[in-house]
Amino acid sequence: MSDPLRLGIAGLGTVGIGVVKIVQQHAALIAARAGRSIEITAVSARSRDKDRGADISGYAWEDDPVALARRADVDIVVELMGGSDGPAKAVTEAALSAGKDVVCANKALLAHHGQALAERAESNGRALRFEAAVAGGIPCVKALTEGLAGNAVARVMGVMNGTCNYILTRMEEAGLSYETVFAEADQLGFLEADPALDVGGIDAGHKLALLAAIAFGTRVDFEGVELEGIDRVSIDDIRHAGDMGYRIKLLGVAQMTGRGLEQRMAPCLVPKKSPLGQLPGATNMVVLEGDAVGQIVLRGAGAGEGPTASAVMADVIDIARGLRIPAFGRPAASLDTAVPARARAPLAYYLRMTLQDRPGALAKVAAALGEAGVSIDRMRQYDHKENFAPVLIVTHKTTRDAIEAAIDNFTATGVVVGEPVALAIQQV
Ligand code: HSE
Repeated sequence: MSDPLRLGIAGLGTVGIGVVKIVQQHAALIAARAGRSIEITAVSARSRDKDRGADISGYAWEDDPVALARRADVDIVVELMGGSDGPAKAVTEAALSAGKDVVCANKALLAHHGQALAERAESNGRALRFEAAVAGGIPCVKALTEGLAGNAVARVMGVMNGTCNYILTRMEEAGLSYETVFAEADQLGFLEADPALDVGGIDAGHKLALLAAIAFGTRVDFEGVELEGIDRVSIDDIRHAGDMGYRIKLLGVAQMTGRGLEQRMAPCLVPKKSPLGQLPGATNMVVLEGDAVGQIVLRGAGAGEGPTASAVMADVIDIARGLRIPAFGRPAASLDTAVPARARAPLAYYLRMTLQDRPGALAKVAAALGEAGVSIDRMRQYDHKENFAPVLIVTHKTTRDAIEAAIDNFTATGVVVGEPVALAIQQV
């Protein structure tokens, strides 16, 4: 058997400790599969003395993760600190420049600096792998780079933020408001330190941008992702969607069109009976569509100690086996610059708004929709409150541009109270 492969782990939070446990518990199994043993030689984290529920006393300690990245007895740096810049970026750059392979779970870092890091890895002849960055334990990066390597990919979709899916599921099941469930999620520790990363769709947008880069051979373009969070989804929306046979999910869709790369992460209505509609709680789902293979649906835990560490170890074991695949599935220099395009696929839309309850108010909305070329499929007024009339409209298929033009026009007439909600209905 070859020499052991030596890991340096930067970051001993939930995922870092998960990796330590797998390396310790499955040493023989991993050595048999990889053809060489995998050892941890050094670790680094913010606090040395914390009780982490795993024995790390046998590993060298580094206060400075960059020093860990440069150690002569480390072959792979496992970066699990997180953050799009700062120490995580410094560690990754230092490791690649020092001739180490890097495995990380850091979607924010890769969404912002993936191209430069992939180029640095390749110019140093090293691997940069990030299976754990997208949808936790679901092997969707491998599925795209390896399993579907013979396909032209038509579309990538996914529910890739467990916290948002938990919030939406809990709202529906308990009939609770967004604000109440958000507070619960906060109490349970489900939210990122900056909750906007979750509920603003940013974390899921990072993941979609990474998958799109692999699927379509383009440089990661997070700036090109149209982002909408779940914070304006109300319990009324969830109930109305349910009455029509739909559920609301924070869904990412990326596809290459003749106009460019469409990437959109936004709450959508999906049929209750579809795989995406049946996705409960914090679970993630990634749907990949290839021209030869058809549709692949991958479902599993999108976060947490075991699932995310499982994905980290898959990358580590690939490197141990000598499998060297470019970070985004083809050499970084050959990735095209993405031309971002606004999502324009014709879809039906769910519109909810509150109107002033006075003569002609609804007519103004109907006229604005008509002028923008949007045709109404169904409409309902419900729960009048004093001078206000909540209205729900489902349109025939149209474009987001047309919906937004109509909303601008009817909002300008002064009959609408507050901001209307417009959600696409995806037949997935
Ligand atoms: N906050 C993320 C989620 C963690 O809820 O899915 C994994 O990226």
